[in-house]
Amino acid sequence: MDINEVGSTAFFPSCVRQMEQDEARPLFEDPYAGWFIDEEATQEFRRLIHTYPAIRETARYRVCVMNETLERAMADGVKQVVTLGAGFDMRAQIFRTPGVRFCDVDQPGVLAFKHKILEARGVTPCPAIPGNYLELDLPGELAKISFDLDAPTLFIWEGNTMYLPAELIHDFLDRLRARTPSLIVAFDYFSAKIINRTSGNETMTAATDYFERNFGAKWVTGFDDLSVFEERNELRIIESGAMLDVCMRHAPESAPALAEWTGLHSYCVLKAS
Ligand SMILES: C[S@@+](CC[C@H](N)C(=O)[O-])C[C@H]1O[C@@H](n2cnc3c(N)ncnc32)[C@H](O)[C@@H]1O
Repeated sequence: MDINEVGSTAFFPSCVRQMEQDEARPLFEDPYAGWFIDEEATQEFRRLIHTYPAIRETARYRVCVMNETLERAMADGVKQVVTLGAGFDMRAQIFRTPGVRFCDVDQPGVLAFKHKILEARGVTPCPAIPGNYLELDLPGELAKISFDLDAPTLFIWEGNTMYLPAELIHDFLDRLRARTPSLIVAFDYFSAKIINRTSGNETMTAATDYFERNFGAKWVTGFDDLSVFEERNELRIIESGAMLDVCMRHAPESAPALAEWTGLHSYCVLKAS
């Protein structure tokens, strides 16, 4: 089972979700997270987090905001959820709700690994589409598994945009919007200052270098002005904010730990008008 560098980035968020279970007041539940990471990887991530604690903090609030967005969408009646670059995301189980359908999309090696682990534990994975979503006919693949392309569909795009060239992001959104007119897309993104090492924050720059050096995948795209999604992709921004805003909603006492990421890691929810 071949997991490449980009695929291997899925292990870190699993570690973050697993660590949450040891908190006195966990911000979210993911009883499956520990299934996907071995002891060696856990130790490696704990070393990273020990040196750069804010990397864990910002990833925790990313989980919170995606959960909030999913819960709100389901409360609004959305019955289709597609997780792009799903990695070891287990929301299909955690938020299982009668009448709501989930679908994972990721590289074949990542999905094969995930499914092997789940099947060994007796958990049936949600439907999945293996492949590079930038190249697949994703709407066509969703239609094949009976997703209704005209119905409201939430695309959770967590921990992905930083790895993709900006032009490919915009082209992908254009193609998706053209065929799924009721789409909602929730994603997190970095500031270009992280990518360009111009945040002025030396710890941040060192953390970026450490991440790229040790985990093999590069962060290539950041955004500092979301209006590009309205102008270029004709999508409406229905919500956006910094991870610090999410932290203030869930655990304001943790805000100091996140201070160095202020303005550097944010989220956005787009909707086709
Ligand atoms: C940082 S991980 C995030 C995983 C998950 N969304 C989470 O937050 O736990 C990025 C995931 O996106 C997948 N990915 C990135 N680009 C992709 C692409 N173009 N097509 C399919 N999967 C992709 C990787 O294989 C990896 O599993």
